[in-house]
Amino acid sequence: MEIKKNTSLKPFNTFGIDVIATSFVEVKNIQEVKSVLSNNKQPLLILGGGSNLLFTTDFDGLAIKNNLKEITVVEENDSEIYLKIGAGEVWHEFVLYCIKNGYAGVENLSLIPGNVGASPMQNIGAYGVEVKDVITEVEALHLKDLSLRTFTNEACEFSYRSSVFKTSEKGNYFITSVTFKLNKQAKVNTSYGAIDGELKRLEIESPTIKDVSNAVINIRSSKLPDPKKIGNSGSFFKNPIISEGQKNKILANYPDAPNYSQPNGVFKMAAGWLIEKCGWKGKRIDDYGVHELQALVLVNYGGAKGSEIYSLSEKIIESVNSKFGIILEREVNIL
Ligand code: FAD
Ligand code: EPU
Repeated sequence: MEIKKNTSLKPFNTFGIDVIATSFVEVKNIQEVKSVLSNNKQPLLILGGGSNLLFTTDFDGLAIKNNLKEITVVEENDSEIYLKIGAGEVWHEFVLYCIKNGYAGVENLSLIPGNVGASPMQNIGAYGVEVKDVITEVEALHLKDLSLRTFTNEACEFSYRSSVFKTSEKGNYFITSVTFKLNKQAKVNTSYGAIDGELKRLEIESPTIKDVSNAVINIRSSKLPDPKKIGNSGSFFKNPIISEGQKNKILANYPDAPNYSQPNGVFKMAAGWLIEKCGWKGKRIDDYGVHELQALVLVNYGGAKGSEIYSLSEKIIESVNSKFGIILEREVNIL
């Protein structure tokens, strides 16, 4: 385990922002994490796949890249399997492993970048499924006293793009593994409209989990930029949750505004639609801008600075607020 000095983090964030970390180390097991943490006095940044981060400045501290690999069968019966997955496993590779073995539950979350360890952080979600639906436990190391704690699904306090690790326990834990409960008797979930449409286009009537995964991959690839080609962190903002009154006010002027009814009488509005209506979709300024196919995605065409992308996000928040009276919240973690 080598602690490197003044390392560029460009290869470690999907926005492709070139910043320097004062110290950088890669860890591959809990012992190495403990050893690094017990000797460290600098500010700490835990890095997974770097796909939900925007660096606005150099990082004056220790960036610790999580490479903890492990796939363990915890328990199994005729209908279910419980798998404990190391936090450094790549999320989409885990999804493909489940599909190959016939374990249903994560196929709708195909092609989400990043590592398994970050999946509970913001309760990743797509195409009608959130990872909270399949997580039973999260194991995490306390950064100060180095004790290992197991969080049950309930203790994770999952909600839309959030968990206890982004709220009351923010910055307190290094997630080391996640345990998932998967179904051996596949029950596919195609309730999210676009999946059904894509399956029809492919002329598939009785979809397998592999078919659903392929449909999701096709839909995602048609509108989300591939970070290997154009730097980005997926949705830059969360979809805002608004009251029925606010929703009706918008619908009075824009009857086609996409909105989704939520429990407790509130509504989720499509932030991409709000941003598009403010005229930002496809806007390019120098080397950064708003993606031409998905206005919720801010992009780096090559040499952008994180601070420029952050300023763009401020302008977007201002214009959505002045047109619709809605304050967008960033989904991406800003550093
Ligand atoms: P990172 O970006 O490395 O880290 C994210 C945060 O978690 C940071 O604060 C980091 O310090 C912390 N962290 C990471 N690992 C650990 C750990 N082991 N312990 C403690 N803290 C940790 N997200 C969705 O929910 N749904 C989508 O459909 C989706 N689509 C995307 C599409 C694209 C093209 C891109 C680029 C991103 C997309 N995302 C999506 C966002 C992103 O992929 C997820 O948030 C993912 O879970 C981030 O994983 P990561 O390993 O890259 O985390
Ligand atoms: N829309 C527009 N203009 C746009 C973008 C979207 O009008 O530029 C409209 C679409 O036509 C559609 C609605 O907004 O009616 C929703 O769009 P989409 O289905 O593309 O989903 P989203 O709400 O923009 C969310 C997640 C994604 C996830 C998809 C699929 C958030 C913040 N984003 O996007 O997650 O993959 O649904 O489930 O919840 C991420 O978190 O990084 C991410 C990519």
